[in-house]
Amino acid sequence: MNALIKPAFDVARIRQDFPILGEKIRGKDLVFLDSAASAQKPRVVIDAMVHAMERQYANVHRGLHWMSERTTEAYEEVRDALAGLLNAPDRSHIVITHSSTEAMNLVAHSYGRGILKPGQAVVISAMEHHANLVPWQMLRDAHGIELRIAPITDAGELDMAGYEALLQDRKVGLVSITHMSNVLGTYTPAERIVQLAHRYGAKAMLDGSQAVVHRAVDVQALDVDFYAITGHKLYGPTGIGALYAKRELLDAMPPWMGGGDMIRSVSFEVTTWNDAPYKFEAGTPAILEGIGLKAAIDYVQGIGFEAIAAHERQLTEHALSCLAEIDGVTVIGHAQDRGGVVSFTMDGAHAHDVATLLDRQGVAVRAGHHCAEPLMRRLGVDSTSRASFGIYSTMEEVDALAAALVRIREFFR
Ligand code: ALA
Repeated sequence: MNALIKPAFDVARIRQDFPILGEKIRGKDLVFLDSAASAQKPRVVIDAMVHAMERQYANVHRGLHWMSERTTEAYEEVRDALAGLLNAPDRSHIVITHSSTEAMNLVAHSYGRGILKPGQAVVISAMEHHANLVPWQMLRDAHGIELRIAPITDAGELDMAGYEALLQDRKVGLVSITHMSNVLGTYTPAERIVQLAHRYGAKAMLDGSQAVVHRAVDVQALDVDFYAITGHKLYGPTGIGALYAKRELLDAMPPWMGGGDMIRSVSFEVTTWNDAPYKFEAGTPAILEGIGLKAAIDYVQGIGFEAIAAHERQLTEHALSCLAEIDGVTVIGHAQDRGGVVSFTMDGAHAHDVATLLDRQGVAVRAGHHCAEPLMRRLGVDSTSRASFGIYSTMEEVDALAAALVRIREFFR
């Protein structure tokens, strides 16, 4: 077979790669619709980490012995894999972090305190996860930065006119907006967000925690300055993420955490920094998690984002039409361009009760404010239930969700 032709998307075969999907929950097949919170792990990721622990493990970047050199090589492969995943020009643009939250905190601390000047502004949007909100509030309070919130429409899309209006006085130094909402599933118009930021003299960051799981991301085509991602939603381990950044920005930015590995030389009087990206990577990194994430990226790329996006589009459309049929269930968020996340409320029932009753029927969803409390307020709800899909999700699981919701609705009536 031509190596460039990928096999057709076969969800039944994909499911066999995920050992946990064979588990029974309360005697029923697990229906796992909570992948936006954290995705399950394929066997290749588990095996790569076990292999490293059993056969190839030592600290990295430090040892002169065989085991350390081999582990360093295996660990550093994740940087190349991340550069490939995001289409970064090369590996020096990739800072490995412990999470996307850390990636955004890095930018807030380093770019925010080191490059932005008091009196400048940062723009986020009304649909940000707390990880792309709280670091900017901390920056505002510590460094005299104004925090501006771009509005969203009732459909849950970014209000582009409102966004542009915030940029026009040219006081904005940085824009940081989600590429895909973890609550509404909305894809934001990333290219346009970046273009407008640049037109008014601001840098642009995208929170890609959700988007990078569902569609191909090309940081060069987007011309984005910073792009934050996490590994555990991408079928990799927890405790690892990454920041893509333009190289000239990394070179200009001061480090934000001090310790081993991020230095060139240290004396009691003065310390000099390692080159980027290492000057942002203090301490022993998440070695096993890096090895696991490399396996996850290879796995996902082997399936291909075109096939993944098409599969998840079908699931989302099916879920939206099933939920629209259930009296008393309201879907929250109606963006035109959306990924595999569907939030909803049920009349007369709290989202936590809905999630608990779904769980009794073997269906796992997330309920609450989804780490986006201000968005809940904007939408006029205190919480939602949220079903989210991954590469292993099936139409039958969407049917199981809908059938379970019909029963719950009857119960509350
Ligand atoms: N950010 C994750 C979510 O949306 C945890 O559930």
